[in-house]
Amino acid sequence: MTDNLEMLLSEALTGLENIQDSGSLQKWESQFLGKNGRLTQMLKGIGKLPPEQRADFGKRANEIKQTLTEAYEQHTEIVRQHELGKALEEGELDVTLPGRPVQRGGLHPSTRILRQIQAIWAEMGFQVYTSRDVEDDDTNFTLLNIPPHHPARDMWDTFYTTQEGVILRTHTSPGQIHAMRDYGGNGTQPIRVILPGMCYRYEQMTARSEIQFNQVEGLAVGRHITMTDLKGTIADFARRLYGEDTKVRYRASHFPFTEPSMEVDVSCTLCGGKGCNVCKYTGWIEIMGCGMVHPVVLQNGGYDPTEWSGFAFGMGPERIAMRKHDIKDIRYFWSGDLRFLEQF
Ligand code: DAH
Repeated sequence: MTDNLEMLLSEALTGLENIQDSGSLQKWESQFLGKNGRLTQMLKGIGKLPPEQRADFGKRANEIKQTLTEAYEQHTEIVRQHELGKALEEGELDVTLPGRPVQRGGLHPSTRILRQIQAIWAEMGFQVYTSRDVEDDDTNFTLLNIPPHHPARDMWDTFYTTQEGVILRTHTSPGQIHAMRDYGGNGTQPIRVILPGMCYRYEQMTARSEIQFNQVEGLAVGRHITMTDLKGTIADFARRLYGEDTKVRYRASHFPFTEPSMEVDVSCTLCGGKGCNVCKYTGWIEIMGCGMVHPVVLQNGGYDPTEWSGFAFGMGPERIAMRKHDIKDIRYFWSGDLRFLEQF
């Protein structure tokens, strides 16, 4: 029996010496020293020995266990150093390699154009007024001179909510009423604001129309504001946005909240007016609607229309961005498609 112990010792030590990796080291450990290892098995057989041999056998077995444990610990350190050396050698870093570019987020194209538009109006003395997305029917329509059941309401297909009279704004124009009531000082203070924000329309989604889109509304109210101020201001804005040489023209139009009303065209930014795909060979592209604030609207904002006047305008930043970058489909803006978004 004691011979078996000595054989186990020499076998284990030889085996250990040849081990080069931590996987084999673990196997060795469980084979010789583990709970079901060979040494433990032999110790369990101690009861089968004649009683006078048991003490010596037990003592020697424990010595061997001690020896093997120490050898195992020593060898573990050797293997660890060996593996570390190998890993360093194989995974050697080439510090001259260029770094991998970090993926960064970017601003949404709508945010970019909105910021650009806001910056231009800020230079011209217009403050940003943020109005609500969820409106009441009165402010979105009636107070803007669009009474219930008036056919003009058909211009705006509306998302209604389950609460009577509560809707999603179909345009930023109701912000005019809020701005006049909040900042007009009961019709005593002049106003110069822009109102950017999301609008919602219950419409068939097509390449040209979305159910949600941004608008930037503008409003100026004062004692001597005339149509000339409107035309000059808009032309100034257009040249700041599109460049010095941009031509601007006004076409008579109709909106219930302005009188008179106009639509504004600028000379095509892509072909400079010669005619191309984007301007449909007319040389002009439409950028906004505008007009002199209707007396009824001024009154609803708290102003006396015999003393006060104003102009208003409304533009669609996505439309402006589409023409700028020749984007053919407005649905790209909210599709969340990174292949589109990463181009800006
Ligand atoms: N609210 C109009 C629309 O959504 C745009 C508009 C036109 C706004 C003329 C105005 C304006 O302030 O004067 O179609």
